Amino acid sequence: MKPFEAKARIEILRKEIEDHNHRYYVQNQPLISDFEYDVLLNELETLEKKFPEFKKDDSPSQRVGSDIKNEFEQFDHEYPMLSLGNTYNEDELREFDNRTKKTASGSFNYSCELKFDGASVSITYIDGKLSRALTRGDGNKGDDVTENVKTITSIPLSVRGSNVPEKFTVRGEIVMPRVVFEGLNNERTKENQPAFANPRNAAAGTLKLLDSRIVGSRNLDCLVYVVLSDELPHDTHSENLKAVAGWGFKVPDSIRLCKNIEEVLKYISTWENQRKQLPFDTDGVVIKVDDLSIQEELGFTSKSPRWAIAYKYKAEEALTKLLSVAFQVGRTGAVTPVANLEPVLLSGSTVKRATLHNAEQIAILDLHLGDMVYVEKGGEIIPKIVGVDHSFRNEESRRIEFIKSCPECGTFLVKNEGESNHFCPNYLHCPPQLKGRIEHFISRKAMDIDGLGEETIDLLFSNNLIRTFADLYDLGQEQLVPLERLGEKSATNIINSILKSVRVPFHRVLFALGIRHVGETVAKTLASRFDSIDSLINAGSDELTSVNEIGPKIATSIITYFADQENMELIRRLKAKGIRFTSEKTKGISGNKLEGMVIVISGIFQKHTREEYKEIIENNGGKNSTSVSSNTSFILAGENMGQSKKDKANELGIQILDEQEFLKIIDEE
Ligand code: IVH
Repeated sequence: MKPFEAKARIEILRKEIEDHNHRYYVQNQPLISDFEYDVLLNELETLEKKFPEFKKDDSPSQRVGSDIKNEFEQFDHEYPMLSLGNTYNEDELREFDNRTKKTASGSFNYSCELKFDGASVSITYIDGKLSRALTRGDGNKGDDVTENVKTITSIPLSVRGSNVPEKFTVRGEIVMPRVVFEGLNNERTKENQPAFANPRNAAAGTLKLLDSRIVGSRNLDCLVYVVLSDELPHDTHSENLKAVAGWGFKVPDSIRLCKNIEEVLKYISTWENQRKQLPFDTDGVVIKVDDLSIQEELGFTSKSPRWAIAYKYKAEEALTKLLSVAFQVGRTGAVTPVANLEPVLLSGSTVKRATLHNAEQIAILDLHLGDMVYVEKGGEIIPKIVGVDHSFRNEESRRIEFIKSCPECGTFLVKNEGESNHFCPNYLHCPPQLKGRIEHFISRKAMDIDGLGEETIDLLFSNNLIRTFADLYDLGQEQLVPLERLGEKSATNIINSILKSVRVPFHRVLFALGIRHVGETVAKTLASRFDSIDSLINAGSDELTSVNEIGPKIATSIITYFADQENMELIRRLKAKGIRFTSEKTKGISGNKLEGMVIVISGIFQKHTREEYKEIIENNGGKNSTSVSSNTSFILAGENMGQSKKDKANELGIQILDEQEFLKIIDEE
């Protein structure tokens, strides 16, 4: 490879890996498996080694990903939170063993542990009391999720037992039992919310919720895998973990000490099947040198310890025949190819379909109709095709071609530079896109029209009763009752909840319209700056971009939306039905009583959710901030307010108000 080619490839890899990091750590929606990710990272590392002139400190090869979200206060980890090197076969594991033995000055045992698949957390205790819990973040600093962690019942708020250091940190995996995950996804599907891809994403997403009460209801568990302190009671990792179990933490009883690599391999093969009986997902085994002094000798690379490694189990695969490929158009117009397969048993369930992601994936696999394909079920629910067994290929079989036009409406598909999906540009008339926009419109955070769900929307759509969300307000009881599956009672419920939605505040209506790039937060920002839809419609690009957080991309999208006469017609019809298109200044909830104030919210509340309090503060001219500083005007505190915030407030002499006191300020007058 020539240097200029290497440079170009390095840049592509860096961008791609950063995108995957963001999807994995921040959005909790990974697109590729850990293995595929490691392949990309390895390629990047190899190229950077070969062409050191292109090395860069901010390359994703130099750091671990970051899960940091701006809503949480961040703190430094006292001991950095590193990741683990991965191995995928026996040879790689034996190499690790040889390396380790060469450097270690004496003999040692390995501690073998299951690698539970969730979100890692680091919890510090001082004087026996839970003091602060942080997510991994970028490895050096993490998000303060103390309030959420306190709702997890297997994490003690204060420890018991003997030999407890004055200050120590436990690290563990926050996991969600598979049954809880399935129940949660059923509920989310009913409420038109996107389902979580797997229990890991569900656990990571839950840990980052702003409302601790919901966290408490999701039955998370914490499995501790390490303890750190300047005064650990024992010289080995395994004995210290035993001590931790005695202090009240949950330490998995699957941990075993192994004298050599043969015993490690036996442990790995024993658990390969047994792990499936556990209530939680596991994706491998972690092998650690047990002796702490030898751990110290071995030390760390910039990213991971040299004294530990992960062995990843191979995702289960099955070989089956590709019968056909269907192309599905999603709510956003994105086209996804889906493989129809000869039914095959895989990890305990029958698989008939698998995702093919996009055109590039089909091209990489060079798929032909009738091919024998390998299907894999990784951490995600939807299986995917990972390879083709060419020995079965019939030379006459036809290559799979990506379609040129939309299977739903016939419009010519487009593919934007830098994006991997083909799109149907027929935004206004393509049925799945129309339905998708109605589903978004009725969803909980938008117009919150309960009683209507995906199925009912489908029913109304196929009976030609609705084409746009504005049509919902023209529906009459008599049109609904005769429909299959709907009786008098559901029809009444639907009509009532549609009627009720006229009271939804302006910012949620704005969000409900489904303007590209106008999510919940942007809608709120717009509604607080423009007090009616008319002033927003009349705003030019300069006025829009002068608003904090509104850049040219959002501004263009807003202008394009209102320039479309069909959208304007929808708004006109909604207005005529009494939908709120102006900011309401209702009793005490809106005003300027908090003008210029900076308010920190902490703890669990009774009357409103944390999100609602944030909104009330903003609607009253105040600013919500996540960290306590000398600029803080006061703290709105609920139950179990964060200790760190309390200490800081006391130190700075900042007033702490409870819910009642706060609402009194807002409501008075
Ligand atoms: S030890 C410095 N032990 O795997 C090494 N990690 O890929 C610290 N994990 O971030 C990790 N089970 O979230 C360790 N028994 C176990 C584990 C475990 C799951 C997760 C953990 C870590 C990731 C590393």
